[in-house]
Amino acid sequence: MPEQKNILELIENRKIVPVVKLYNSEDSLPLCEALCEGGLPVAEITFRTEAAEDSIRLAAKVYPDMLIGAGTIVNTEQAKRAVDAGAKFLVTPGFSKKVTEYAAKNHILIFPGVCTPTEVMCALEYNLDVVKFFPAKQYGGPDTINALSAPFPSIRFMPTGGINASNIRDYLKNEKIIACGGSWMVKDTYIKEHQFTEIIRLTKEAVKLTK
Ligand code: 3PG
Repeated sequence: MPEQKNILELIENRKIVPVVKLYNSEDSLPLCEALCEGGLPVAEITFRTEAAEDSIRLAAKVYPDMLIGAGTIVNTEQAKRAVDAGAKFLVTPGFSKKVTEYAAKNHILIFPGVCTPTEVMCALEYNLDVVKFFPAKQYGGPDTINALSAPFPSIRFMPTGGINASNIRDYLKNEKIIACGGSWMVKDTYIKEHQFTEIIRLTKEAVKLTK
């Protein structure tokens, strides 16, 4: 599975995965353009809206060098639609055996959501070594990740939920954290109101915080 390893390395290098909610697939390309201009050519487009699938399809086609994944995947039907549309990785808010099995069978990189030791053990049963820690802020942030790292030294985390420019450094200094997910630079309102200049500004600022 060299592709999965390469994708993971790219995410690890970029350090931030913007979590995007698009209500209109027409906003997909300008959003991708803004993220690229901001220096962060990666997006997790969430299946929280009807526009997710078409948005992924457009982004994957027009920006083949960007890393486009699908988030908020809660069942295998969504996972299939996302992968068929061109998603390179899947993110689930909680742990789903069915979705994880689908990803494993199809050699798709998946970050299942966990926030307890039991859920980390579910991920271990599928030989996964990176999980999403969600919702990160509400479940104790970097302290909880440290505590989970003690019994599970092989596991690394991609926390999301409540991360922004003011606290991302607290997360990224932990070597068990490969990258942080967050929506602060791509807020719904910025996209709806086509405030792409603001998205570029916040993305550039976010990238600086990873250095
Ligand atoms: C996610 O699904 O990863 C989160 O909703 C992103 O959290 P945030 O909006 O607090 O950044």
